[in-house]
Amino acid sequence: MTNDERRAFVLEHTRLSPVPLVPEIAIRRADAVTPVWFELARWLDDDVVDVPFWCVPWAGGQALARYVLDHPDVVRGKRVLDFACGGGLVAIAAARAGATVWAVDIDPMAAVTTSLNAAANGVELEVTTRNVVGESLPDVALVLAGDVWYEPAPSAAFRRWFRRLAAPVITADSGRPYAPRRIRELARYEVPTPFELEARTTRTARVSMFER
Ligand SMILES: C[S@@+](CC[C@H](N)C(=O)[O-])C[C@H]1O[C@@H](n2cnc3c(N)ncnc32)[C@H](O)[C@@H]1O
Repeated sequence: MTNDERRAFVLEHTRLSPVPLVPEIAIRRADAVTPVWFELARWLDDDVVDVPFWCVPWAGGQALARYVLDHPDVVRGKRVLDFACGGGLVAIAAARAGATVWAVDIDPMAAVTTSLNAAANGVELEVTTRNVVGESLPDVALVLAGDVWYEPAPSAAFRRWFRRLAAPVITADSGRPYAPRRIRELARYEVPTPFELEARTTRTARVSMFER
């Protein structure tokens, strides 16, 4: 699969629309995720393909993007990593708030979508699909991680890695089962969410400093 083919798939199955909690940013979103998931599985000829995380602004990501835009001093002038960027909402918010942003996601569909969304919002991002978990990242001043606590093994690996990083980590979560307990809450938001994914129309999401 080439990036041109991935871009064409994203453009066909999503449309640019404002993010509910962050209406000043519009990203490419699916009206319904399940049909896109089926199409993606068919297109990739892969029955166990992951949810297309990149076509949804997740509750944690929405809360973190809102927080960054409302507290630009937290990121301004810094080199910031948006870890597990999905569609790149948090990265775009950080860039808008004055950061130099490196957006990372292991899913090449997410990387392509993030680049499309960055262009649509007039910001520049560095986008990578390398798995950076375990790297020391000496040139990163701050890590942002929205909605990453949804599976047990990756969550444990992220926690171990975040503990060893020199840079502070701000994370946002809406009550996923594997979220870290050692956190310091910075803000809390009621986030509109798709009923199809969350079985409810809002979730409370907390933006927190990860405590080592
Ligand atoms: C629930 S989505 C959150 C996306 C975005 N942060 C948001 O809040 O909208 C989780 C993302 O984590 C990514 N991911 C999982 N493991 C990863 C890893 N080791 N490195 C980078 N991204 C990863 C997935 O590909 C997916 O895009």
